[in-house]
Amino acid sequence: MADAVGNKAAKDYHFDVPAPDQGFFARGLGHTDWGMKNRISRLFSPETGNTVMLAFDHGYIMGSTAGLERLDVTIAPLCEYADVLMGTRGAIRSCIPPTTKKAICLRATHDSSVLFEDMSLGSGLAMDMEDALRMNAAALAIQCFVGGAGERDSLEALCRAADAGYRYGVPVLGVTAVGKEMARTTQYFLLATRILAELGASAVKTYYCEDFEKVAASCPVPIVIAGGKKLPEAEALEMAWRAMSEGARGVDMGRNIFQSEHPAAMCQAVAAVVHRGFDAKRAYEYYLELANA
Ligand code: R5P
Repeated sequence: MADAVGNKAAKDYHFDVPAPDQGFFARGLGHTDWGMKNRISRLFSPETGNTVMLAFDHGYIMGSTAGLERLDVTIAPLCEYADVLMGTRGAIRSCIPPTTKKAICLRATHDSSVLFEDMSLGSGLAMDMEDALRMNAAALAIQCFVGGAGERDSLEALCRAADAGYRYGVPVLGVTAVGKEMARTTQYFLLATRILAELGASAVKTYYCEDFEKVAASCPVPIVIAGGKKLPEAEALEMAWRAMSEGARGVDMGRNIFQSEHPAAMCQAVAAVVHRGFDAKRAYEYYLELANA
């Protein structure tokens, strides 16, 4: 049985060896079914292999967050600049026009609200696959608390969602939630991202960290980064660029877009990093150009 203590330290990430070509553009997903591949192709661009997910699911634990007071006013106009819309079924049904052509990634778990110290203790599946299919979801996002008190329940939710996902061809985005008691170390993200992928996530969302290339290299499916708390635009673009340069296949970004002074410009600048190979400096100049137009 594997042991948490005394493991031989992982150190050889074979950075010079490309991941095996399985005849499908998205890493590690070449052996999945047609429907799964079709949905993956809506999440990640088949041209670049990358994605800009616009995350606006924060209200499911935080209530009316700054920038999300009126989703119909602030988020709906941004949708055209993103590839994927990530929100709860309540937010999407009530505020996003069903005419959208964008892929939907449904936040499909509940957690404790911010009123509780440990949000992992309230985790569980928030919707079933039938409703996700009714909403034409391209993916389900399942939040997991590796190392948290609620680890077991959240990993159980991931496994059940992955079972349903494989049954119906719907990929699961495993989301690494870092509890207050966990440090955001490379070691932690190496552990958490790999666990989520091995348990059946078709893509993994994590945070940028030191030695991110090791985290990306050892995650066998596409990995995207969250933005985290609002940073100055230049710093957020720098983080996105670094993550992309070190193996991320995109971002699942919220506050650094919708809390920006110029959300549409910021979303387009992030997309330029993700899809057009802009470096951080060029992307920031692009942001300023769009913001001042
Ligand atoms: C947090 O509640 C959600 O998982 C967000 O979707 C995620 O943290 C990404 O949003 P942000 O870029 O604001 O961190």
